[in-house]
Amino acid sequence: MTDSEAARAVDIIAGQDGEQPVLLEAQALVKSFKTPAQTLTVLHSVDLTLKRGEMVGLLGVSGVGKSTLIQILGGLDHPTSGKVLLDGASIFDLSERKRAALRNRRVGFIYQSHRLLPEFSALENVAIPLMIGRMSRRKAMDRARSALNDVGLEKRADHKPGQLSGGEQQRVAIARAMVTEPDLLLADEPTGNLDQKTARNVFDMMLDLNQRHHLSCLMVTHNPELANDLDRQLFLDRGTLRPATEAETQAEG
Ligand SMILES: Nc1ncnc2c1ncn2[C@@H]1O[C@H](COP(=O)(O)OP(=O)(O)O)[C@@H](O)[C@H]1O
Ligand SMILES: [Mg+2]
Repeated sequence: MTDSEAARAVDIIAGQDGEQPVLLEAQALVKSFKTPAQTLTVLHSVDLTLKRGEMVGLLGVSGVGKSTLIQILGGLDHPTSGKVLLDGASIFDLSERKRAALRNRRVGFIYQSHRLLPEFSALENVAIPLMIGRMSRRKAMDRARSALNDVGLEKRADHKPGQLSGGEQQRVAIARAMVTEPDLLLADEPTGNLDQKTARNVFDMMLDLNQRHHLSCLMVTHNPELANDLDRQLFLDRGTLRPATEAETQAEG
């Protein structure tokens, strides 16, 4: 049974007929890395279907290929073979430029480290994706302010990243990912560097944004308590993706 068939079966059993449209689809993704000594195949055949508004956890032991998969799904890295469809459009059939534009408009990324630019204020950092998308500075700053407001940091707009706590930095990174109003959020261990309480706080903020903006999210996390609050969890194992078992969702990844 493929992942999408399994998801549909679950919907039917739950009495829902899977009305929600599919946002993201991966078909038979393969990714190999060639080094002088060997070829390492990290993803053997990955299928994935993510519906609109769905929040899905991505689990798997370290080094199994979670980050590689996230990068490919977001169009930042090429698969060796296979397809990624965003709203039915095959993203690797687009030119590099069109793919970058699509990513800028429709996909937000959050990483374990915040990756904010240290010399810019929180507000400017959040505005950067809009400026890249050629929005006027004034309009970009207005939108950035509203995104900072969404993560409860309107009073920190003028602070540089170095003047913010770890949790605040990560919230600025979330605001930056959300400012373009993406359909898809790809989060690679977004709370991995935070203490338990701050992690919960940042995670709840992502759940809240998901509710309010009807966003889809694929999130790598090693935190079983947080992962259990997502709609479902997938496990990447020996290059393929399958629903996580109960034991896997309880264990530290
Ligand atoms: N650019 C690369 N060249 C060669 N090997 C790579 C490259 N990127 C990742 N890998 C290898 O692919 C595997 C999966 O890495 P990664 O996706 O970062 O795993 P995870 O995020 O699950 O910890 C690892 O064995 C890693 O060493
Ligand atoms: Mg990783």
